[in-house]
Amino acid sequence: MPQKTLLLGQTLRFHDDPFRVPVEEAALHDSRGGVVIEGGRIVALGGADEMRRAHPDAAVTDMGDALITAGFVDAHAHYPQTAIIASWGKRLIDWLNTYTFPEEMRFGDPDYAAQIAALYFDLTLANGTTTVCSYCTIHPESVEAFFAEAAQRGLRAVAGKTCMDRNAPDGLRDTAQSAYDDSKALLGRWHGRDRLGYAITPRFSPTSSEEQLAALGALWAEHPGCLMQTHLSEQTDEVAWVRDLHPQARDYLDTYEAHGLVREGALFGHAIHLTERERRRLGEARSSLIHCPTSNSFIGSGLFDMSVAEDLPVGLATDTGGGSSFSMLRTMAAAYEIAQLRGQALHPAQLYWLATRGSATALHLPMIGNIEVGAEADLIALDLASTPAISQRAARAETVWEALFPTIMMGDDRAISQVWVAGRALSG
Ligand code: GUN
Ligand code: ZN
Repeated sequence: MPQKTLLLGQTLRFHDDPFRVPVEEAALHDSRGGVVIEGGRIVALGGADEMRRAHPDAAVTDMGDALITAGFVDAHAHYPQTAIIASWGKRLIDWLNTYTFPEEMRFGDPDYAAQIAALYFDLTLANGTTTVCSYCTIHPESVEAFFAEAAQRGLRAVAGKTCMDRNAPDGLRDTAQSAYDDSKALLGRWHGRDRLGYAITPRFSPTSSEEQLAALGALWAEHPGCLMQTHLSEQTDEVAWVRDLHPQARDYLDTYEAHGLVREGALFGHAIHLTERERRRLGEARSSLIHCPTSNSFIGSGLFDMSVAEDLPVGLATDTGGGSSFSMLRTMAAAYEIAQLRGQALHPAQLYWLATRGSATALHLPMIGNIEVGAEADLIALDLASTPAISQRAARAETVWEALFPTIMMGDDRAISQVWVAGRALSG
């Protein structure tokens, strides 16, 4: 008989999107809740006593005062940039040329790719991130390494071969044809296998020719069930460069739209400097925007406008290694601070939604990112008093939001007491 587990602690889950309905209707907190897991999924939830009575056969894991929630979902990352995180002093294009491209060059070596993939998942899991959507490099070996490591750990994960056929150094360019062929082969091999999904991945218009964007648009039309990820309007000088490269395009988004790359299932990272037309078109197309706040401040890109979350799906992401942390707690803190700079105070429920269910929705992964019956049991337990500074502040809290907010603003991997992947506890 499969083992049934009952997790006890505080629980936090979502009924709805706190950007669209009031927080009290969107989020549900239970100060003593229970979550029953069986066969990798959540099979029941409710009050702790009620769950104990209803499931006397379950093995009990009591997390005490810890807050049990969905694991974090990082909607945009570059696992090959793990070793160059926190590289000093450059803006986007210089940063790519100086730090990123030389490092990405190394991923043709399957041993190196495997080593970094393992390190990367050690770091993300230690930070309570149970699903990532990552770019790889131009090398199929880098995609193999990522998916093999994710599969071995039983993770739900999304990734794709990064395609670049121009404005990148020798040794780091593919062609329109090889990008199509390699992406197609990798997609065929990995998409839908275990808990893995494929995202067709043109890096961004400056590094993909019209021919390559067209080839990847054709591939997506052949495989409409997978995702497509790319970058959009991250820095003003990048936007100006795209205008020079594509004088016929109406705007940056149009360089993708012209090749069938703007629709539901498209994930646009950053999307800071949008025109009115771009914003309207993205909303009509039901594409997702991915907010990368630590990256946007670290590389000096700009202040994302969170008000778009009222109109279209928005995910939250570290964007490592342009982002400066592997922690989605640090990332929520940065999202809060950037919204403050734009005159908007994001509620802790909105921040937590973005890091869990919001990102899962943006990635079209309805089976993760929440505590609900039938969902996959990718969960974490948060210690809301993980450091002396956090603890003394949380001690004053009168509501769950006041108790959680110090951990959002000041927490890191020390706040992650436990991680469950498909119901399996990773430590302790
Ligand atoms: N735009 C194109 N490639 C990248 C990348 O690797 N990181 C970030 N932040 N922006 C990009
Ligand atoms: Zn990125």
